[in-house]
Amino acid sequence: MAGEVLLDVRGLVHAFPLGRAGSVRALDGLSFQIERGEIYGLVGESGCGKSTAARCVMNLLRPQEGRVLFRGIDTCDPRAFRAGRRLLQRARQLIFQDSASSLDPRMRVWELIAEPLRIQRAAPPRGSFRAEAEFQMKYVGLDPGYLDKYPSELSGGQRQRVAIARALAAEPELLVADEPIAALDVSIQAQIVNLFKHLQAEHGFSFLFIAHDLAMVEFLCSRVGVMYRGRLVEEAPAGELFARPLHPYTRALVSAIPIPDPRRERARRPVEFRGGELPPGGVWTEASPRHFVLLEGREPL
Ligand SMILES: Nc1ncnc2c1ncn2[C@@H]1O[C@H](COP(=O)(O)OP(=O)(O)OP(=O)(O)O)[C@@H](O)[C@H]1O
Ligand SMILES: [Mg+2]
Repeated sequence: MAGEVLLDVRGLVHAFPLGRAGSVRALDGLSFQIERGEIYGLVGESGCGKSTAARCVMNLLRPQEGRVLFRGIDTCDPRAFRAGRRLLQRARQLIFQDSASSLDPRMRVWELIAEPLRIQRAAPPRGSFRAEAEFQMKYVGLDPGYLDKYPSELSGGQRQRVAIARALAAEPELLVADEPIAALDVSIQAQIVNLFKHLQAEHGFSFLFIAHDLAMVEFLCSRVGVMYRGRLVEEAPAGELFARPLHPYTRALVSAIPIPDPRRERARRPVEFRGGELPPGGVWTEASPRHFVLLEGREPL
């Protein structure tokens, strides 16, 4: 069922200097692809490089090695980036964990939502920028009574809905969300994930969803990549990954997910992952259709 590749991330390497202590290799050969209309989940422990990957995908950071192709445009090449700038700015939108810090506190809700359209000098599809903002607000479940409020007057969940409305007003082809629910109350998290699911089904945008909460990832994503120390160790359709995790690290992650059924939860035995460095190299092996795992220097299955 392979479709058209929208985003092609190839062999990203990026190390941050750590003063005299050397450097930390945040990305160490990260590759993955996102097809049109799919929701790709990127998971892995804190510090494994997820946000660094998102910043490279959005060209907020240029990787030291590797390429990020969007619709075939080599976005890490300055000339290709400049030539495709308008398309790239409109077609890719980013939502952060903490929209309180990403939304300008001096702008009203309707101005925030309309801002991407203004920047692109796009004519508002529904007459005026305010009408457009109102439409988008209703669409993401925000009461239009908040049109003239400032971000500080909203709850965390409401602010995140503003961030989503703002991203969608640009009609993106790719939405990148870096831990978009991590800062929200548990009760609100499920609402926002449901909203994402609903919006993606309606709009059909491709979605890179970065998250810690594996239960949410299983619910929302069509395919999942598991990152460990800057690269993927496993990737599979979501159902397959959670039913048949192959890499020891993925097994440990999956075994740590609480099960809602109390009887099965009591029987759940978390698996430990010994951690540490993965041996260099490794063979990226397709164990079953679309299910890949990094085998440590062994022969392919
Ligand atoms: N600007 C920076 N300067 C120095 N080191 C950095 C910088 N950004 C990230 N790092 C380091 O790179 C590694 C990867 O960081 P990154 O933020 O991408 O991880 P993450 O997977 O997003 O973690 P989290 O789940 O906590 O958000 C970490 O070791 C981090 O300390
Ligand atoms: Mg992060």
